[in-house]
Amino acid sequence: MTYAGSVGVVLGIETSCDETAAAVVDENYRVVASRIESSIDEHRDFGGVVPELAGRAHVTHLPGVVAGALADAGLDPHRPSIDAIAVTSGPGLVGSLLVGLSAAKAYALAWEVPVVGVNHLEGHLFAPLLEHPDLAWPVLTLLVSGGHTALVVVEGPGRYEVLGETIDDAAGEAFDKVARWLGLGYPGGPVIDALAATGDPAALRLPASMTGPGFDLSFSGLKTAVVRARGVADLAPADVAAAFQAAVNEQLVRKLRAALESRPAAGVALAGGVAANSALRARVRDLAEEFGVALHLPSALLCTDNAAMIAAAGRYRLAHDGASEPSLGARPNWTLQELT
Ligand code: KG4
Ligand code: ZN
Repeated sequence: MTYAGSVGVVLGIETSCDETAAAVVDENYRVVASRIESSIDEHRDFGGVVPELAGRAHVTHLPGVVAGALADAGLDPHRPSIDAIAVTSGPGLVGSLLVGLSAAKAYALAWEVPVVGVNHLEGHLFAPLLEHPDLAWPVLTLLVSGGHTALVVVEGPGRYEVLGETIDDAAGEAFDKVARWLGLGYPGGPVIDALAATGDPAALRLPASMTGPGFDLSFSGLKTAVVRARGVADLAPADVAAAFQAAVNEQLVRKLRAALESRPAAGVALAGGVAANSALRARVRDLAEEFGVALHLPSALLCTDNAAMIAAAGRYRLAHDGASEPSLGARPNWTLQELT
């Protein structure tokens, strides 16, 4: 379906995992309002997101989150003057995606605006644009989240070359699993980030992973090495956290460096929840300086799941591909490579 109208103000809706989010983004990629409500407290005791609980929480939270974001943007929550609704249609938890999709379709019918389905990973790749709308391409982006880890050459909106991906766990998943073994709770990334600052990374020697050529990544060996090391030595949790985090970041930065050495790039960017990691941000900042390229580090709230990035990607998709069909469905395993 082609879309003839101009793409102005977009309402974004994100419900792919445990964050229920809504945001309003204007025609200049400016975030006018952004609300996020997480059901994370309900999942903590289980050490990970429980799909059924997440889906139920989205049903409860979404109306308030959408009305709140519209009100924050100075729009009438009952009849907002928006031009389109962008909604995550995958990848993610199917029951969670369906809540956002159903709500988006209902709002669109009531407000007579088009809906566009957005790939969540493409959304993450748009996060740097929200704070640097005039950034220069290509941008080498490390997309590091709880479900995905990829090194992507972003040639421009919609033009992606995935150089490498994790062959096992995602980086965030490794943070979460190691934190669980250390008894630090869920999600693990922020706790390990804070704890690592007080630990000695040299206290534990961990194997370097994926040291050969190529851009694929791997984190499950590191995770196993941490568990083994804990079994044989009485290590302080802060030292384990510091050593593990340093090893993850070392691998990520090594691959990003190799990409910078072999590809033309105007900038480097981090995206996804692990992009909030303070040590990783510092290392990528140094790397950008060393190579003399621009640095795009989204603020923490734009790294983790949010709807502003979905609205931004949706604006592009609506202009490029047109509105989605009314039959738009959930695509739990939708990859970046499937985007054209
Ligand atoms: O992008 P995101 O919010 O959700 C997914 O799409 O997966 O990423 C969540 C992941 C979790 O694994 C969490 O532990 C990790 O991001 N994370 C961090 C930090 N903050 C969140 N990992 C390392 N350091 C952090 N500061
Ligand atoms: Zn995400």
